[in-house]
Formats: sequence, structure tokens, C-alpha cells
Amino acid sequence: IPVAPFDYIVFGGTGDLALRKLLPALYQRDRDGQIPDGARIIGVSRSKLSNEEYAQKAGEWAKKLIPAAEFDAKTWARFAERLSYVGLDVTSSEGWEELAAVVEGSTRIRVFYLATAPDLFGPICRSLEKAGLVSEDSRVVLEKPIGKDLASAKRINQEVGAVFNETQVYRIDHYLGKETVQNLLALRFANSLFEPLWNSSWIDHVQITVAETVGVEGRAGYYDTSGALRDMVQNHLLQLLCLVAMEPPVHFDKDAVRDEKLKVLRALKPMEPEAVLSQTVRGQYKGGAANGAAVPGYIEELGRDSLTESFVAMKLEVENWRWAGVPFYLRTGKRMHQKTSEIVIQFRPVPHSIFPKDSGMVEANRLVVRLQPNEGIRMHLMIKDPGPGGLRLRPAPLDLTFAEAFKVRSPDAYERLLLDVVRGNATLFMRRDEVEAAWTWVEPILEAWQRRSEHPKPYTAGTWGPAASIALIERDGRTWHEEVD
Ligand code: BG6
Repeated sequence: IPVAPFDYIVFGGTGDLALRKLLPALYQRDRDGQIPDGARIIGVSRSKLSNEEYAQKAGEWAKKLIPAAEFDAKTWARFAERLSYVGLDVTSSEGWEELAAVVEGSTRIRVFYLATAPDLFGPICRSLEKAGLVSEDSRVVLEKPIGKDLASAKRINQEVGAVFNETQVYRIDHYLGKETVQNLLALRFANSLFEPLWNSSWIDHVQITVAETVGVEGRAGYYDTSGALRDMVQNHLLQLLCLVAMEPPVHFDKDAVRDEKLKVLRALKPMEPEAVLSQTVRGQYKGGAANGAAVPGYIEELGRDSLTESFVAMKLEVENWRWAGVPFYLRTGKRMHQKTSEIVIQFRPVPHSIFPKDSGMVEANRLVVRLQPNEGIRMHLMIKDPGPGGLRLRPAPLDLTFAEAFKVRSPDAYERLLLDVVRGNATLFMRRDEVEAAWTWVEPILEAWQRRSEHPKPYTAGTWGPAASIALIERDGRTWHEEVD
């Protein structure tokens, strides 16, 4: 549905996120005819740039990042017309009149996208209000991380909440905009097949893996203050877990969905210090190989020693009627063997095998939801080995690979989310209480780690993480799902 004309004001407009993700995503929507005439995108940042220089910078990145078949000069020229730039130091009270002069007077929807450090969210909101730029039709988008612990998240939420109503606040978690993540909702709630089996009677355990091959590279400064638990688990992995574990919402609308996710976060079994010790593994990569080339270790990239983890694996429990006794294994890390994000639902074995022993092992069914790359859904079934011989069993996948099944481009997660903000649809955004509940669960882990002040376990770049992560799941008689396409 095309939207009404809007002003998108991007703070951190010359930053990595804006140039690599937000502007290319808006360009793609423009290409699809989803950006209305007169819509404007205004970059705000400290550097001194003219509108033309900003558009040129954005164009250079877009050309590099957007596949050639999807980049055409004519559409880019139309898109570039929408871009303008305001140089402003957001930590100062000066200079806001210039921004006001650009956006003031327009009665259209105003989106303030804060792609800046989180401690600037409050000050920016206050300055926007002082400059008279906040109206009922304004929205504010907060990029993660929202704080670094519960107290800072609460402070930020309160500062933003002093200027914007909760209905105007969009806390973005780009994983919720990924096609296959939304497909998980379709799979669960638009089919009658899975939901009756979606509980502890039929599911043995769940695995969520988000493995990256990249290291921390240019982001080492930020990353070292964060680590994998804050950077990935507190938001992306817990959000995925919520979508797997939540009860069916009454409607697909913002409060119904977010109420159900919140219940899952509140049902997570709090980790006592002993559980942190036995149920979590922290890792940090050493030099090794990635994508066929030698790569340095975390410490070398950072240039000094550090106790920050670039990998985390954990076993957690959702204490409610549906999931009692079903472990959820989560792992995520940088510089791992391959880029893979997937959710694995491992069903229980058949209660009794009718087949003779020499027919082969009857393996339990496994549903794999692949988020990236090669998005799709694969159901591992047991079948009879084809042929006229005796009845031999073997596992075989029922495969729905989206790129093959549907010949459409898979959009970047931001494409969907950026226009959802304009439409006022917050279903795929996090509510304040959700973010705070996630921090409440994560905080005891951070504290226990901090008290021990230990070096994370080393793992060689290009592997699946430290051996302790394998031991974490194998001691329960299970293994991590690793499938090479
Ligand atoms: C970001 C993290 O939120 O997500 C990064 O800060 C991480 O460290 C990125 O690399 C992963 O996103 P994607 O979409 O590439 O899986």
C-alpha cells in the first residue's frame, strides 16, 4: 500500500547504518513505486556537507551495495532528488533552527530515525521538542542497542517517553523484518499442521544459531563495549525465540503480538550464578581463516587485550505449560565457519519402531527454518529408500527454498520496516516493556560474567566456536545442527 508523503529525518546520516542499509532500502522501495511524490529524506550529521555532496556520498555507497541489476541511474536520480542534508552537532543546543527551517511548516508525517549512539537518544528528543519539531504525526525510530543494561535502557526509554508517546516510538530490531522471520509466523499460524505438535509433548528441543563469518573490523570500538550477548542475544536471538515460543496472538496486530512475546520473555527461567557457569559459554576468536583468507584474531583487530566475547552459546528454559522441560539452545558468534542463521525445531523420536533393525535408524523429524543465506524451510523426514530392494529407511528433506520457489527478489529487512513506521504499523517493533524484560533476563548473566572476570574461551576463526559450546549440547545427548548446502 503506497504511503502518504513524509519526511524521513535520519540522525547519524553519514554513518554506516544510514549509508549501507537505510538509504539503499529506501531506494529499493522507491524503485518499487512505494515512495510517494514529495517524500523527503534528510540526513543529519556533524560533518559539513552540501545537499549535493550528501547525495553523491549516498550514491557511491548505493552503487557499491545494490546489485547492478537493481541499480538504474534514472531511478537513483529521482531518489537523489529527495535527499537533503543538515549539518548539526546534536550534542549542542545550537544549530537546530537550520533543521527546523527545512522541515517546519510541513504537516506531513515526520519520522526521526535515530541511528546514533543510544546515549544521544534522550538529548536529541529533547532538542527536537524544544525546536518545535514534534507533533502528533511524528514518530521516532530507535536503533539498537537500547542501553547497555537494564538501568540505561530504562533511562533512555524514560527520556524518549518524556517527549514521544509510546505509540510514536518504534524500537527497531531488523531481524523482525527478515522475510523468513515473518514466514515463521505464517508457518505457525497460517497452517493447522504444526500448531498441535508445537509443544513439549512433540518437540524435544529448539536450536537458534546466528553465525557470521565477519569479524569486528571497523566496529571494534563499539563492539568491545558490547560483546555478543548484548549485541545479538539480548535483541535478535531473544526476539527469534519469542516468535518460536509465543502463544497464538488473537490478531496480527501490534499489541496482540507484543503481549505474547512479552509473556515468553517473562517466562524465561532466570539464570542463577551457578546456571550461568554451567549453561553459558563465552568465546573469543583467535587468528584463523575466513572465506579462504587468513584473518587476525579479535585481540589483534582491537589492538589491545580484552575480555569481551565474540561468541556465546547458552541453554535456556521457558517456564510455562507449553515448553516445560524443552531446552532452547542458542549460539551466535563472529568469524564462524559459515554465515548461517537458522531455527531448528527438533521433534521427538517415534515412540516405537515397527521396522527391523537392518532397515536403518529411524531419525526423529527436524524442521529447519533458514533465515539466511538461502532462505527457506526444510523438513527432514524419514522415507523408504527408493528401489525394488528390501525396505530400507533413510532421511530425506522436504525443501522449500524461497529463491527457487518464488522468482522474486528477497528484500532487505529494513525495506519492510522503514515504511511500516510511516504507515504507523508497530507490529514488528519492540515495545518498551519487551526491551526492559529482555534486559532483566540478560542482566544476571552479564553480572555473573563480570564478577568472574575471565578470558572468554578461545576459538580459531573459521570454526564453529569453542569446544565447550559443543560440550554444552552434547552432554544432553544432542548435537548442533550443521548442514552444508
Ligand atoms: C547487528 C549487529 O545488529 O546485526 C552486528 O550489531 C551484526 O554485529 C548484525 O553483524 C547482523 O545482521 P545480519 O542482518 O547481517 O544478520
